[in-house]
Amino acid sequence: MPFAHITGWGMAVPERILTNFDLEKIIDTNDQWIVEMTGIKERHIAREGQTTSSLAVEAAWKALSVAKLKPTEIDLIICSTSTPEYLFPATACLVQDRIGATKAGAFDLLAACTGFIYALNMAAQAIKSGSLKNVLVIGAETLSKFVDWTDRNTCILFGDGAGALILQASDVPGGVMSTVMHSDGSGADLLTLPAGGSKNPATEATIRSGLHYIHMDGREVFRFATRVMAHATREVIAASGILMDDVKWIIPHQANLRIIDAAARGLKLPIERFVVNLERYGNTSTASIPIAICEAAQDGRLQKGDKFVLVGFGAGLTWGAMTAQWTGVMEPEHIIRPNYYRLFARTRSLLRRLWLRIEGIIWGRNKA
Ligand code: ACO
Repeated sequence: MPFAHITGWGMAVPERILTNFDLEKIIDTNDQWIVEMTGIKERHIAREGQTTSSLAVEAAWKALSVAKLKPTEIDLIICSTSTPEYLFPATACLVQDRIGATKAGAFDLLAACTGFIYALNMAAQAIKSGSLKNVLVIGAETLSKFVDWTDRNTCILFGDGAGALILQASDVPGGVMSTVMHSDGSGADLLTLPAGGSKNPATEATIRSGLHYIHMDGREVFRFATRVMAHATREVIAASGILMDDVKWIIPHQANLRIIDAAARGLKLPIERFVVNLERYGNTSTASIPIAICEAAQDGRLQKGDKFVLVGFGAGLTWGAMTAQWTGVMEPEHIIRPNYYRLFARTRSLLRRLWLRIEGIIWGRNKA
């Protein structure tokens, strides 16, 4: 059975930074409250024209470059997101076109902040079954576009960003080990974007009532999160047949420092064993875990052979955890030319669009 190794990683965040002090100017809040209650100091906010797919594409290019993989070698793209570009088509398909992944299947996965763990597990299972070799897994969000900037209960929490990993098949042991995935739809109301779906299609009334924004019962979500984080971590470690002492890093969903603290206490681990960066990005939902992985890989905290745990929770309710062993960069089989791939992808996309038009004209004319 092949193993599913993480061989490439990349992240992208908007350049624009919104600090707690900036927020003080637009809502009734203050830096001290936000830092004490959440640990967040600033977040990155997409500028106009910057979208979930544009961040996803930027992260994907970086991950491909680290893995020294051509876009045409990707078999599947999974984009985990709760803020897709459209209800359909899938954001993953937009990424497929933009990077010229000519033979890849592509779909979106929605499991809120736990989505990246779910997506990574789907990719790893497909690789371990022998059906796929190279999978691009992306977590990407532009939550700032779905936040009510007059609601201080939610707007202080969220930020935008994307992270991408490449999973590759190899006979060498390592990579993704075990995963646990859980859900409890009875808590669906606790964190929801009520309108825009089939239950409450967009109307003037839904817009006037602010139903296209994130609605959250912060206290209940907090209670749920502190309940499940330590439990899921222990569960996945047991499923992997390893011990807590074998795990070098816990990489949690970056929602609130107090939630991560509670998990650390529950696991009787020092907070230093956790990768934490939420003070700079806020909660980027499903992008938070891959962004934290990228930073830990870039600054050398993650070293070849290190075992680590990913653990997350989110709307749904969903929660889950994964154990994996860090692989790092594998020896490339060939030289790669990133600039050439970008040019190829752009040209191919333009020609495909042109060809679809020409086909439409031909078929339209034949019909008439
Ligand atoms: N600035 C200043 N004061 C505030 C703010 C703010 N931004 N927000 C609320 N307050 C006030 C409230 O009005 C309240 O004042 P009162 O006591 O005079 O009524 C007081 O602070 C306490 O408010 P609570 O909402 O009860 O505060 P709580 O302790 O629950 O903390 C928080 C709020 C930080 C949002 C917390 O509930 C939390 O982190 N919950 C988890 C949220 C989360 O992680 N969501 C993401 C899930 S993942 C996903 O799927 C996206």
